[in-house]
Amino acid sequence: MTSVGITSDVSQAAAILLKGGIVGMPTETVYGLAALARNEKAVHRVFDTKGRPRNHPLIVHLAPDSDLHRWGILDETAMKLANAFWPGPLTLLVPRTSLVPDWVTGGRDTVALRIPSHPVAQNFLTAVNDGVVAPSANRFGKVSPTTAQHVLDDLGDSVDVILDGGPCNVGVESTIVECTTTFQLLRPGAISENEVALATGRIPTSISGPSRAPGMLESHYAPDAKVLLVDSLQEAEVVRQTIDSTNSVFILHFENVSEYAEHLYDSLRAADQQKVAIVIAVRPQPNGIGLAIIDRLAKAAATR
Ligand code: TXA
Ligand code: MG
Repeated sequence: MTSVGITSDVSQAAAILLKGGIVGMPTETVYGLAALARNEKAVHRVFDTKGRPRNHPLIVHLAPDSDLHRWGILDETAMKLANAFWPGPLTLLVPRTSLVPDWVTGGRDTVALRIPSHPVAQNFLTAVNDGVVAPSANRFGKVSPTTAQHVLDDLGDSVDVILDGGPCNVGVESTIVECTTTFQLLRPGAISENEVALATGRIPTSISGPSRAPGMLESHYAPDAKVLLVDSLQEAEVVRQTIDSTNSVFILHFENVSEYAEHLYDSLRAADQQKVAIVIAVRPQPNGIGLAIIDRLAKAAATR
């Protein structure tokens, strides 16, 4: 298959996917690298293109009107969350059905499901009319892409086509909630623990101890620049004074927390492009999507 670059033609992208190709797909959170979930060869190409270990399970993305029960066993709590937040930036980890192949889940007995709200993603998934795996379309361990150009920069010709849906407006990956015998928040995102509790009438166990979602490595969302974390702009200035002036420094900060999430990854990418040596990132308040930003910043700052 020859590379066709970036397109806004949904039918063309869907046709390529259905023929076993791999496609850069926009979602409201970040861009994904899509393949047909039930096509083993295509799914293995996704792992290889990302450089991701094949036992790291993938999220299955479905169109809004899909029959969820073909893919997963959703209990009452999971259904409440699906009704409250789908389509949207939420992934539910539930027991899988026999339809879900081992190459998607790394042999686990659970499957991660998500119905995205991005209109282009919905049109694409509707045209495909089957489950679509899509990890974030970055190289393993690097910052997630939030534009079609980022996907092209990272993966270039190894993707068959990139479907352009404009810049992602959430900017950080979906909230993952496990609804099995365990009810737990596995990854913070735009949907907060509080919203999950309100929608279900249950308080999920908070993230602690070793992660139950493989691939959530400590250093995971890493730019080339060294990232230092502070709690205020004043502190950022104090830290800047201590840095040798031969190093170029960039202070990462947004007053508005949604804007911070939206531009977190493109700011880190821009810093790398400008060969910034040190990014001083100001942590937002630890609530709502602020917690997701703090989580990704901590990973970007982790020693590698
Ligand atoms: O916002 C998002 O969720 C984006 C967009 C493209 O939808 N996707 C995304 O995929 O962030 P990825 O592969 O980068 O992260 C998915 C996370 C991984 O940490 C993986 O280990 C976890 O979900 N996961 C998926 N299936 C799982 C399973 N069966 N059991 C445990 N963890 C699972
Ligand atoms: Mg990822």
